[in-house]
Amino acid sequence: MAIAPDFLDEIRARVGLGDVIARHVSLKRTGRELGGLCPFHNEKTPSFTVSEEKGFFHCFGCGAHGDVIGFVMRQEGLSFPEAVERLASEAGLEVPRATPAEREAEKRRANLHDVMERACRFFEAELRGPRGAAALAYLAERRIDEATIARFRLGYAPDSRTALRNAVMDAEHPEALLVEAGLLIRPDGGTPYDRFRGRVIFPIADRRGRVIAFGGRTLGDGTPKYLNSPETPLFNKSRVLYGMATAREAAHRNRRVIVAEGYTDVIALNRAGYAEAVAPLGTALTESHLHALWRMAPEPILCFDGDAAGRRAAWRAAERALPLLEPGRSLQFVSLPAGQDPDGLVAEGGSGAVDACLEGRRGLVELVWEMHAEGRSFDTPERIAGLEQALDRAADGIDDRRVQYQYRQHFRRRVARQYGFAHAPRARRDGEGIRIPVSASPETLPRNALRFIVATLLRHPPLAEEYCERLAELEIEDGRLAGLMGRILSLVHDAPGLDEDGLRSHLSETDAELAGSLLRADVYAQWRFAGPDATIESARRGISHALNGLGLAGVKADLAAARTALENEPSEANLRRLRELKETLELQGSEDAVSAEDPGTAPALGRYGQQS
Ligand code: UTP
Ligand code: MN
Repeated sequence: MAIAPDFLDEIRARVGLGDVIARHVSLKRTGRELGGLCPFHNEKTPSFTVSEEKGFFHCFGCGAHGDVIGFVMRQEGLSFPEAVERLASEAGLEVPRATPAEREAEKRRANLHDVMERACRFFEAELRGPRGAAALAYLAERRIDEATIARFRLGYAPDSRTALRNAVMDAEHPEALLVEAGLLIRPDGGTPYDRFRGRVIFPIADRRGRVIAFGGRTLGDGTPKYLNSPETPLFNKSRVLYGMATAREAAHRNRRVIVAEGYTDVIALNRAGYAEAVAPLGTALTESHLHALWRMAPEPILCFDGDAAGRRAAWRAAERALPLLEPGRSLQFVSLPAGQDPDGLVAEGGSGAVDACLEGRRGLVELVWEMHAEGRSFDTPERIAGLEQALDRAADGIDDRRVQYQYRQHFRRRVARQYGFAHAPRARRDGEGIRIPVSASPETLPRNALRFIVATLLRHPPLAEEYCERLAELEIEDGRLAGLMGRILSLVHDAPGLDEDGLRSHLSETDAELAGSLLRADVYAQWRFAGPDATIESARRGISHALNGLGLAGVKADLAAARTALENEPSEANLRRLRELKETLELQGSEDAVSAEDPGTAPALGRYGQQS
């Protein structure tokens, strides 16, 4: 019976590693560690170190390494349980004894593992025996070679009700155990018989590679196509993924895991060089599957058939994953050509075809966007609001607050960019999408101020990212200017680190031409903080001011309206409203004062109202 990990930690915490070792080795402190002559090999200069902080000793001479339990085992030649026993009594602890019931359960589990392993060997041998010829031919036809058969331990269950039973049943492995393992079916009151008959066998292993269940495929068109082991004390299909053990090493090495739909997909992916492939066992992905996948790689790649059913399955997986997301932990999605599975893909196009599909993978956020926005037009304020609401609800489903915040930001920017403003020119050009230009804000900034803003963004792309939400709300009547603004916003969104040259190198010829004219020296002579010498701080103040200047006009109009309202109806509420607006106006005024200190700001501000 294994000793509970918690108890081992308790021992490690209570017994000082340095104290135990110091009984055998004379140790000297060097910095955070202790050092001395290694007790496990002969040496004259010390290469043995002890880190009490980490709880480990290590010898740079002979490589001996371990914790306090390991030290006692080596030093005193004890077995693991003996060493634990020794250290526990030294620490005044009692090693917890398994209850008889626990020991019994442990023994039964071991027997179940044992019988599954015996069955697996039986099936493997049968595949190569006289009864397995047709199955072997079937696998060959499916291009599953000998090495793959061995790696996945594929087998064959002969078409007999007693073959397996006779082969593995004995005194230690009685009938009841075989029934419990799911190898035999016991009909009501009848004699138990072999579950798998006349099928190719795909052993299902746990994370450690121990066989815990089987899947059996008919050689022809019989039904069911696949027959799987029932749930047993070893096998719970909502936790296990086919290929979990074979994929583990490659998944860690490549920091990637690919999730396909079936047994043969995993096998084909392996053959094509993707060892990091797994599949659920005929069920949708469960929460435990997702957790298992995240233990293998931070962004598991899920492959789905490109048809409608595949898309629904992908959405189901996405919805299941949202609440479980954490910083750095997500999913990616690959949509295969309709009607194709990875097995078919490999057969037709080899690893190149798989690569091409993997290239086209999309992030979870993209999929959620699609779920709500794809195939519909958002051409009225109500429809856009509906989209916003749906996306907000999706983000609400994310438990982790950081991730939730990022999703919200992403969706807000995207709605603003795609549906919030000034896409009329594009819509006109390619004739699709939004027909009615919609603005989130009814206010229109004077053309001159807009030109100044765009010029400043060209100089300082980070400001476009910083103010993207408010910028996206601006309604820009000038089509070319609107186009340039839209391009800038999406460029900085897609590539946040862009500098001035980087940004300009991404612009089209028409955009670049407009940008050039906005940045001409005689133009920025009027707007010094759009000039080449302005610091980003003064440019930021300029932008903020331009945007708030607009707000100021709005506040003034509101103030006038509030005055009228109060005259008409001298209520408490109207009075409060007027006071609030006055306060707001004062705040805006104080910002004016701050900006006026910037020598570059004042002349530009003066121009807003005059030139437009
Ligand atoms: P598929 O029908 O896509 O089969 O089922 P497949 O993996 O492509 O198999 P081949 O290529 O026809 O041999 C996908 C998975 O669903 C489960 C199996 O785990 C299968 O791999 N399944 C399917 C069943 O459990 N029972 C079935 O009858 C069919
Ligand atoms: Mn298939």
